[in-house]
Amino acid sequence: MYKIAVIPGDGTGPEVVREAMKALEAAADVEGFDFESKYFDFGGDRYLETGKVMDAEDIEELRGFEAILLGAIGHPDVKPGILEQGILLNVRFALDQYINLRPVKLYAGVETPLKDKGPDDIDFVVVRENTEGLYAGTGGFLRKDTPFEVAVQESVNTRRGVERCLRFAYDYCRRRDRDRKLTLCGKTNVLTYAWDLWERAFNELAESYPDIETDYAHVDAICMWFVKNPEWFDVIVTDNMFGDIITDLGAMIQGGMGIAAGGNINPEGTSMFEPIGGSAPKYTGKNVINPLAAICAVQMMMDHLGEVDAAARIERAVMNACNNDLESLSAGKMGKSTTEVGDLVVKYIKEQ
Ligand code: IPM
Ligand code: MN
Repeated sequence: MYKIAVIPGDGTGPEVVREAMKALEAAADVEGFDFESKYFDFGGDRYLETGKVMDAEDIEELRGFEAILLGAIGHPDVKPGILEQGILLNVRFALDQYINLRPVKLYAGVETPLKDKGPDDIDFVVVRENTEGLYAGTGGFLRKDTPFEVAVQESVNTRRGVERCLRFAYDYCRRRDRDRKLTLCGKTNVLTYAWDLWERAFNELAESYPDIETDYAHVDAICMWFVKNPEWFDVIVTDNMFGDIITDLGAMIQGGMGIAAGGNINPEGTSMFEPIGGSAPKYTGKNVINPLAAICAVQMMMDHLGEVDAAARIERAVMNACNNDLESLSAGKMGKSTTEVGDLVVKYIKEQ
């Protein structure tokens, strides 16, 4: 019996989570496992009503679950940063979800903006460090609100934090067993402290993984190659900020935010899975948002929990929907409603 915490969140979050939970129920039915879910109303509406984002007790309660499914965070009436920091980053940090795992996979039938590239070319995974770097929140102001104001934002890279992320990436690359190639994405030519540490740790660990080919690329070059030669990549490991940026680019080449999912993983604790797109206020309540990314988040969650057959079944159902039924993956252009796409995936989950 898996205990799953569900945070539908803001905007279109509740709509996509509803479909994702339908897919989870169907997969549990067919594959014969049980789960119980508890819903939490963290998000913009609750904040506007109560002034509360999340407190320490909420975090403690979340620790008691095996996994968390998050819809979306971000509300047009709440100042940017409050909900992101108070909920998303708070959970990532407090539960020490030190890996952000973001697969970039183009499914057959899905349109990519890359000319002459297909599913064989676009299939890699980004392992993003998720608790340090520029996201650590250190720095500060000097002489604020004067003409001489100084703002310092520091990137924090600890040996332990870097090493555990790299180790996860090496292990993941081995388990994935595709090209067995791990690319470190950094900026050794300019950020000479942080990336010196990353590169040393990367090379030292390589000795324990003789079966993994190692490779290095600067982050700017990676952006170029994601577009020009995505087939070069198998697993990429990088820091928090670079990982944030390159995975949005990755999401676009795999067909957009309608399909891109990620996992905030603590291999020894509670992990959180989410569609990586935002709360899409413009589409909220219209039943037009694509729920596939949230369904893919459930797939990643089942994979993480060891229900690999259920995960594979969900993925095949998503692939069928992409290949046979959807006109586009963009909100409002799918040729189907959010609910219909969810129903379709459920149908494919059951009839395999
Ligand atoms: C993401 C998002 C978040 C991040 C924001 C909402 C804080 O962009 O999950 O990639 O920067 O990590
Ligand atoms: Mn992002």
